[in-house]
Amino acid sequence: MKNTLFILACFILALASCSSPESNSTSTTATTESAPAASSSTEKHPGETLIAKSDCIGCHNKVTKVIGPTYEEIAAKYTLDDATVELLSKKIIDGGKGVWGEIPMTPHANLSQDDAKEMVRYILSLKK
Ligand code: HEC
Repeated sequence: MKNTLFILACFILALASCSSPESNSTSTTATTESAPAASSSTEKHPGETLIAKSDCIGCHNKVTKVIGPTYEEIAAKYTLDDATVELLSKKIIDGGKGVWGEIPMTPHANLSQDDAKEMVRYILSLKK
């Protein structure tokens, strides 16, 4: 009789551990475990995301020269400080030529100063 009760108790315990709160918490742990792994492999500089959404890609590439200088060339030419970020973000918004050659960069008047700065920070972060 004691044995039967014991088995019954085990059975109830097993059932209880399968009930929804327990299984929910197991699945949340599974998702939180996979989330950081996924985000770390796709983690991007916010400026890189902004650049990807803009038209920069038509004239710039990270390593291959298209119409404008490559981002790595730009990063090699400048140092990442506030004055440079200010200067280059203005240049992206206003457009201009003469630094790299006679081909002008088109203005990006609807880009906010903050977004342009974030793009410059990303470009200058490519310095080797
Ligand atoms: C129509 C082509 C074109 C597009 C679009 C373009 N660029 Fe440019 N970019 C250029 C050219 C050409 C230069 C070189 C200008 C010069 O010689 O002064 C340049 C220069 C730059 C420079 C260096 C400026 C300097 O004075 O050294 C940065 C930074 C830059 N571009 C970022 C961007 C970003 C970010 C975008 C997207 C928002 C963008 N560009 C879109 C053509 C383009």
